[in-house]
This record gives sequence, C-alpha cells and structure tokens, in this order.
Amino acid sequence: AAVEFGLDASFEIEFHDEIGSTNDRGRELAAADASDVVVIAAEQTGSRGRLKREWTAPEGGVWMSLVLRPEIPPAHAPLYTLAAAVAVTRAAREAGVDASIKWPNDVLVVSDDDTDRGGRKLAGILTEMEGEADRVSWVVVGIGVNANVDSDTLPPGATSVRDEAGDVDRRVFVQRILETFDELTDDPDAILSAWRDYAATLGQYVRVETQSGVVEGEAVDVQVPGALVIQTEDGERVVHAGDCEHLRPA
Ligand code: BTN
Repeated sequence: AAVEFGLDASFEIEFHDEIGSTNDRGRELAAADASDVVVIAAEQTGSRGRLKREWTAPEGGVWMSLVLRPEIPPAHAPLYTLAAAVAVTRAAREAGVDASIKWPNDVLVVSDDDTDRGGRKLAGILTEMEGEADRVSWVVVGIGVNANVDSDTLPPGATSVRDEAGDVDRRVFVQRILETFDELTDDPDAILSAWRDYAATLGQYVRVETQSGVVEGEAVDVQVPGALVIQTEDGERVVHAGDCEHLRPA
C-alpha cells in the first residue's frame, strides 16, 4: 500500500502505510514541539470524526493531519478548519467533483434529489488544539477525503471522488490541498471570501442544534473566526463552529 508522497511544500511529510489516527500522531508530534509536519496514512484503523464520532478510513482515501504552531488565539483556530474545507473543495472541483462546503466542516456533493438530506459527504475536517487563553501552542488540522474508495464501503450518506468523477492522483490532490491551505491561512478575509464562494449553506434555511438550544433561520454569512450568521425571526444570531452539534436544511 505504500504511496510515494514526494511533496514539494514547506511541510515535512511523515508517511504511514497504516496508523490508528493521523490526528493522534499529529498531537504526539505537536506535544514533542514539532511544527509544519503533515502526517499522511494510506489507511487508518482508529480514526475520529467530530463529536467523538467514528470515521471510516480505508486504503484509497486521503487521510492527513497538519501540525502547526501559529501565533493565533485559540478562538481563531476554526478559521483553519474553514481554510482546510476550502482547500479540499478546490482540489475536489479540480478533480471534476461538484463539491461544496456545509458549515462548519463538511465537504459535500449536493444534487437536486438529495438536498433534503443535505448532500452526500465527500470529506470532513477535525481541528484540534491546545494552548493558553491568548495563544495556541499547537493546532492539528485533520483532513479526511473519500478519494479512491467505493462509497458502498463507507457509512450511509457518504460519497467519494471515485464515485463522482473517477480516481485521482492522491499525490497531486494532497499537493493542491497544501498549496491552497498555505496560500490562505495567514489571511482571514481571503479564507472567508473563498469559503463564501464554495458554500452550500449560505442562503439556505437551516436548523442548527447547539449545546444551548436550537437556532433556526436563513444562513446569511460567515464571519471571523468561522462563525455562521443566521437571520432568525428574532434577529441575527451568531453560531460558533464548536457549538454546532448538528446542522440540517430547515
Ligand atoms: C468529521 O467530519 O467529523 C471529521 C472527520 C475527520 C477525519 C480525518 S481523517 C484524518 C484525520 N485523522 C483522524 O482521526 N481524523 C481526521
């Protein structure tokens, strides 16, 4: 299963044929002071999604985690999730997949017959961090893309680059993700504007379940640090990515 990832990027690459979770490995490296490393695995046996959900990561996908030490407050880390979603969406579109972003961290393919389900999931992002109130000590941005896999081996509601547009060269795909991520991460306005271009959520009537209740209305914008602005009957509400337990079209 060895894949050559001779990437030309300002990241050091650590490649594994098989690993539990690239995010766990990324956290380990971060705790040992590493930075600007990308952990890539051909296959993961214990990968994690948001909210302690399981994530299926068979051979053929793109499973990677970026280890970074940016000079940002923890509250700004969600911008990295948005930047990663933009980077994945751009790479997927270049590969011929009609991908768009569902706030905060899902890359989906939405077609007319499944808008009620919100679309089929192509990729997910899991950003983790540690730090003080005013500065993170590290951020690990985990990116999982169902690339060259049959979607019937994935959980219901998932799709893959293979099923939408045919197999991709994973080396090129990862390279493009890293390039876009690199280009965007220092510029919150650029992240938000690219995100708006790719968003499936904006203009949609949504119902967001948060830890502190349900917010329902039209998703009208995204703002620093990656929060969703919802026009409700009682005025505008801002929902932060970390508070979102579930979002679906209302
Ligand atoms: C989600 O949609 O809930 C996020 C899924 C994130 C999956 C990726 S795969 C690479 C990295 N390692 C993990 O264990 N999780 C992330």
